[in-house]
Amino acid sequence: MSEEKFKNVISHAKEYGFVFPSSEVYDGLAAVYDYGQNGVELKKNIREYWWKSMVQLHDNIVGIDASIFMHPQVWKASGHVDGFSDPMIDNKDSKKRYRADVLIEEYQEKYKVKNRKEIAKAKKRFGEAFDEEQFVATNPNILRNNAKIKEIDDRLREGLESGELDKVKALIEDLGIADPVSGSKNWTDVRQFNLMYSTQMSATDGESQIYLRPETAQGIFVNYLNVQKTGRMKLPFGIAQTGKAFRNEIVARQFIMRMKEFEQMEMQFFVQPGTEMKWYTYWKEHRLKWHRNLGIDESKYRYHDHVKLAHYANAAVDIEYEFPFGFKEVEGIHSRTDFDLKQHESFTGKKLQYFDNEKNESYVPYVVETSIGLDRMFLVLMSNALEEEALGDGKTRTVLRLPAALAPYQCAILPVVKKDGLVEKAQEVFQQLKLDFNCYYEEKDTIGKRYRRQDAIGTPICITIDGTSLEDNTVTLRFRDTMEQRRVNIEELEGIIAKEVSMKALLKGLV
Ligand code: GAP
Repeated sequence: MSEEKFKNVISHAKEYGFVFPSSEVYDGLAAVYDYGQNGVELKKNIREYWWKSMVQLHDNIVGIDASIFMHPQVWKASGHVDGFSDPMIDNKDSKKRYRADVLIEEYQEKYKVKNRKEIAKAKKRFGEAFDEEQFVATNPNILRNNAKIKEIDDRLREGLESGELDKVKALIEDLGIADPVSGSKNWTDVRQFNLMYSTQMSATDGESQIYLRPETAQGIFVNYLNVQKTGRMKLPFGIAQTGKAFRNEIVARQFIMRMKEFEQMEMQFFVQPGTEMKWYTYWKEHRLKWHRNLGIDESKYRYHDHVKLAHYANAAVDIEYEFPFGFKEVEGIHSRTDFDLKQHESFTGKKLQYFDNEKNESYVPYVVETSIGLDRMFLVLMSNALEEEALGDGKTRTVLRLPAALAPYQCAILPVVKKDGLVEKAQEVFQQLKLDFNCYYEEKDTIGKRYRRQDAIGTPICITIDGTSLEDNTVTLRFRDTMEQRRVNIEELEGIIAKEVSMKALLKGLV
């Protein structure tokens, strides 16, 4: 997918009521977005697919809904107060703030673009005979560009890992990186800024500083014992949760890829110490299966193992999707050991252990986490589904090939004209189907235009009511993907649509 296609996804999302910039009438708020009438339905369906696949399909996983506000000590214990930060740099002239590592990565991107152009040129020249792997390994321009990229990577890593941020600033200066807005190279020092938002909470004994949660996971950890005891859960078992998280991300132009307010779908799987790698492998495979089950081209996904692990993890992998700006993380699977529960034990002085009847001993369970961003998954589906299809004779149509079970509307009910009793008949069909399906009802415009509008929002089936419908109780079904049309009796509609948009059929692919 090209940069151009990504722009199309963003404008399509806006034009068809999926995603709007937040407070747009006030010119928006950076990296904050609102979901519109179609977006909210798609998002709800993705959430439901995740929830059912986790909670309903596993007899040992239950869900919770913890608060966004938590006791401030939670974030001390989890390490977020001291360690959850990004290296920032300010431009003294434009007064704009940037992530220093992102400025450097954007600089590197220029070399990557040059490589892609080089490859595209060679592909054209050599045609069928082109061996990309060999070309990349031998072409002097590409080798030179890659050496430069690596040199920058090494210097950036050295500065960040050692905490010597003056080295990161020196790198920015050596590369001659200028403020993308003003062109100025007048930079401040690089400093670490915490990503958590804080606010004040009033209490009888004064005010205290609290945080908006930067991940939902901690709400699960602090409820581990409540759920284990009240649900009489036996290891291994999981607790799932979906909900908002907040991070003060300083980014530009990444749409819903990186937001300040976003939604996570997380599951913590509590296991016996020593069995965590078995479960890590299980969840790594199971989660990729969940993605592939949506019919997305397999080559669009890959694993990215973390080489450098966070201090609490003994294994971590990202599931990445190929966005226009390259492969990027959509989901993380982390083996978090007993770090979080032990930290909460030590900060509260309370035991957060499990009594193992078989072993006749108590211990702190280990945890394998799966954590996916709902908004990023939304972007994966939109990017993957949007197609400009050539129909011959120079005609095209815009079609959003979403998995039918996740589409905002399952069907559209369209009387061909607004007269001759067709509206009443169409309303009858609507009343019949609305208890089972989210049905779009529309009377305006020609039927061709209405089909196109439904294609553009991904509705899998259109139901057209015409004069014949009044005579023999039949309607025309028109399918989004094939544009095939079929005449069926109104009595059959419920069964046909249920089969076409079945969440059950989708979930079956996972068992
Ligand atoms: N509890 C683990 C955790 O929060 P993470 O890698 O920081 O791990 C998990 O976040 C997922 O949340 C990511 O894979 C991504 O899909 C999503 N995510 C993280 N930051 C995000 C942001 N600023 N905007 C949108 N999604 C984000």
